[in-house]
Amino acid sequence: MTEPITVRRVGADEAAACIEPLADVLIDCVEGGASVSFMLPLPREKATHFWRGVADGVARGERVLLIAQDREGQILGTVQIILSMPDNQPHRADVAKMLVHRRARRRGVAQRLLAALDDAARAQGKTVLVLDTVTGGDAERLYERAGWQRAGVVPKYALMPDGAFCGTTFFYKHL
Ligand SMILES: CC(C)(COP(=O)(O)OP(=O)(O)OC[C@H]1O[C@@H](n2cnc3c(N)ncnc32)[C@H](O)[C@@H]1OP(=O)(O)O)[C@@H](O)C(=O)NCCC(=O)NCCS
Repeated sequence: MTEPITVRRVGADEAAACIEPLADVLIDCVEGGASVSFMLPLPREKATHFWRGVADGVARGERVLLIAQDREGQILGTVQIILSMPDNQPHRADVAKMLVHRRARRRGVAQRLLAALDDAARAQGKTVLVLDTVTGGDAERLYERAGWQRAGVVPKYALMPDGAFCGTTFFYKHL
């Protein structure tokens, strides 16, 4: 990794200002075949609507949004912590939408996002994190390297963007 990368948490106003570049990252990932809630084709309007909802969630204090940027400020990747939980799980959070643009992959951007995510979760008083990802996908190795524990697989849990079933692996991490 030669190019400097900055990873940081963004507030509600900045999240709202980043909707278009975040939509670029989401669309790129879905077009690259990632199963991250959306099907192909993913219209830009749908992608921007999703990020508007995320920015609103950040404004309400329900989500933490992290972004990774290059030297020019271009958004390379992102991940979220969903803080809002039932009353009996105040110590837990879900991790969602780990996305790195294809042109920025295999340079440690996701690894950096995960390290920052742990710090941000701890700062929110969260000690148990949960996420799910496509079984057999590249992200499984990433999470295991970052100390996440594999809880199990649910076959046919979701669809790939082209409509094929995919299994989902659930991971957790105790901070
Ligand atoms: C999964 C994903 C987030 C990984 O992002 P990334 O930034 O490429 O991840 P990293 O760079 O930290 O690690 C990826 C690989 O690059 C390698 N790598 C990291 N830095 C490197 C470097 N400087 N030089 C060479 N290789 C490097 C890692 O060892 C890892 O190798 P492996 O996949 O063979 O085990 C990305 O592929 C992605 O966005 N996929 C689509 C969306 C998705 O599936 N998200 C997960 C949803 S839960």
